Amino acid sequence: MNGMISKPMVIGHRGAAGEAPENTMASFALALAQGAQGIELDVHVTRDGEMVVCHDETLDRTTTGAGLICGHDWSYIQSLDAGSWYGNSYKGERVPLLREVFDLCPPGFLINVEVKRSYEGRMERALLALLRGCHRWGDIVVSSFDHKVVQRLKAAEPRINAGLLYAANLIDHAGYAHQVGDMFSLHPHHECIEKEDVAAASAAGLAVYPYTVNEISEYAHMIQAGVTGIITDYPGRLRAYLQT
Ligand code: G3P
Ligand code: MG
Repeated sequence: MNGMISKPMVIGHRGAAGEAPENTMASFALALAQGAQGIELDVHVTRDGEMVVCHDETLDRTTTGAGLICGHDWSYIQSLDAGSWYGNSYKGERVPLLREVFDLCPPGFLINVEVKRSYEGRMERALLALLRGCHRWGDIVVSSFDHKVVQRLKAAEPRINAGLLYAANLIDHAGYAHQVGDMFSLHPHHECIEKEDVAAASAAGLAVYPYTVNEISEYAHMIQAGVTGIITDYPGRLRAYLQT
């Protein structure tokens, strides 16, 4: 590999979603074991205000439960199996609380919290309370496709590292981020970012974390583009590639 290009961070998507049930403690532990330097995860809020880690807003696809997460209390969601849909060996995995994942990750390990929905502001309130209680500002990046949520969070709490998620070929990535506010990072779909965009973002002090990059040819393209970190379902595969 070209020694002039700095190696991007390895960030496990939903943990190591290519090899374990996404967004479970097993998946996050696997990402850590494979040498990832960070993880990405998705969050929703339960009816009784707990922040849980799950991609979908419903429980049906990845758990033994059904219905909207926001329509159930934590006591119900806690009882569900979130591993057996993926494989029998993961039976007994459950939906994690966000704070449990924070506790699993060592200091200095990047935790990218993707906010899926605002739930009329309940998400922001719950997340701000959790972040203010754990003092891990440097480790955590909060991102969303909903840029108004990101903007509100950053305005409410300037210590938050805020990131913009998008899948559009923006004319001026860094300029757009500046317009939203004091952003920490860009999280573009990997087909929506090129070397020039990364250079402009870097010059503006923005980190660039493209998603979801799984193929070797895509790793090579993103590394050449000079991105800060790569979000992948296969952190072990990316680690191995970076060591070649
Ligand atoms: O945060 C990057 C990526 O996770 C965004 O898409 O649908 O996989 O959450 P999705
Ligand atoms: Mg996500």
